[in-house]
Amino acid sequence: MSAPSQNAKPLPGPKGKLRNTMRRMADQVEFMRGLHERYGVVVGFELPGLRCCAVFCPDLARQVIRSGEIYPRAYPPVLRELMGDCLLLSRGENHRRRRELVTSVLDGEMMRQQSRIAVRRASKITSRWRLATSLRIREEFERYVMSCTLDMVLGTSSTVPTELGVDALKKLRRDQVSMGSPLGGLLAEVPWRNTSRTRRIEREFGYGVRRSISEARSAERTCPAMASHLARAEGSDGSSPWSSDEQLHDEIAMLALGSPDSPIGALTCAVHYLDRYPEVRDRVEAEVDRELGGRQLAVADLDRLTFTRALFRETLRLSPPAPNLFPRAAQRDAVLGGYRIPSGTVVFINVAVIQESAAHWDRARDFEPDRWLEENSGKNPAFIPFGLEPTVCPFAEFGETLFVAMIACIAQRLRLRPVSNQHPRRAHSALLGVRGPVPVTVDRRDAHG
Ligand code: HEM
Repeated sequence: MSAPSQNAKPLPGPKGKLRNTMRRMADQVEFMRGLHERYGVVVGFELPGLRCCAVFCPDLARQVIRSGEIYPRAYPPVLRELMGDCLLLSRGENHRRRRELVTSVLDGEMMRQQSRIAVRRASKITSRWRLATSLRIREEFERYVMSCTLDMVLGTSSTVPTELGVDALKKLRRDQVSMGSPLGGLLAEVPWRNTSRTRRIEREFGYGVRRSISEARSAERTCPAMASHLARAEGSDGSSPWSSDEQLHDEIAMLALGSPDSPIGALTCAVHYLDRYPEVRDRVEAEVDRELGGRQLAVADLDRLTFTRALFRETLRLSPPAPNLFPRAAQRDAVLGGYRIPSGTVVFINVAVIQESAAHWDRARDFEPDRWLEENSGKNPAFIPFGLEPTVCPFAEFGETLFVAMIACIAQRLRLRPVSNQHPRRAHSALLGVRGPVPVTVDRRDAHG
């Protein structure tokens, strides 16, 4: 990273804080696309109280993410209040240590456990859907992903039911939107934040997490859940690596609640693409028919479903659940791609525009899962839906397993037809994934002969 220089150019970009805010709120991807088309790969814009910069180039994105000391992750202080002391909000050396701890439990056995959970849940849920004529599919995926995540994080014998997890997730989303909005201070006071119901959700979810921790500590052996591994982890001197039980609690709660929106978004968008591109749907169904031959999905099948995996990648490319990486903020004056980045500037790495750019992809805006079957396809540096080292998503494989297991179970038995042919609406700019119930009608494949 070069030092600030007299020769660096000022950031190009639009004026008008309010206009920028309104356009970004209306459609964040469209807003960013417009900035890139009009001003180039590094663009400056202002929001009320914030000087911002958007980056649309994968090499410059890498520079920013790798230079964590210049551009650490920036989050509004209220997020700490919501999420506590967790990996996602940690920085520097603290982040490195915390990440090592969390990823140390992701060994081969944990991965197999994740696959077993996803296959079992997906088979059970889609069997139930055979009796339905219509579904609110995003909400169904919400229950599926939450149930798998709770099994993985807290364990299959946890006392936290899926519905409580979903309620806690909804509460976290509402708090993030209200606190992250320009009216955050006022909205934070609205009564629903503190009704007896929301207090009960918070209390019962926290109780379930604490119970998993104390059961893990009193058990003779580690059970195959992340909470158990993390609660029993030891530092090199045999002591607990957690500074307090509260810290351990926050990490576990965040693993359960901080992530489901990304896989939920990917699955919901895939249902849209499968309906819009019947030739792709036919290929997924043919692959599942060939590999499963009519029997129930098993863990061993997942690796063989290569076209379904290609569907996952292409969905993440054109509909990334995190259209921007977590914002970073310049700690001092810096230069990026020849442009001056004043200290305090909030930097957005825009994944959505990078992944649909003709500079990096052939037939960039076409939905073509086949591109992922070509040799070296996985090496395109402009594919960054899981972020970049050193903060790249440690659960990318789990996200893929959740997706492939569910799409395979759907493809084997059902066709889901979204009532609207529009792309699902993206979540509010402070959140991940998509929003709305997304109604679909359910056709049974065997009814078509
Ligand atoms: C389709 C699925 C997923 C996508 C697209 C996705 C995307 C991302 C992205 C873009 C980041 C990097 C954020 C940044 O540095 O700005 C990230 C980080 C993270 N993700 Fe995921 N994610 C997915 C699934 C999951 C799941 C299932 C979990 C946990 C159960 C999870 C847990 C995390 C955590 C803990 C981090 C923070 C890593 C760190 O700071 O070192 N993600 N994810």
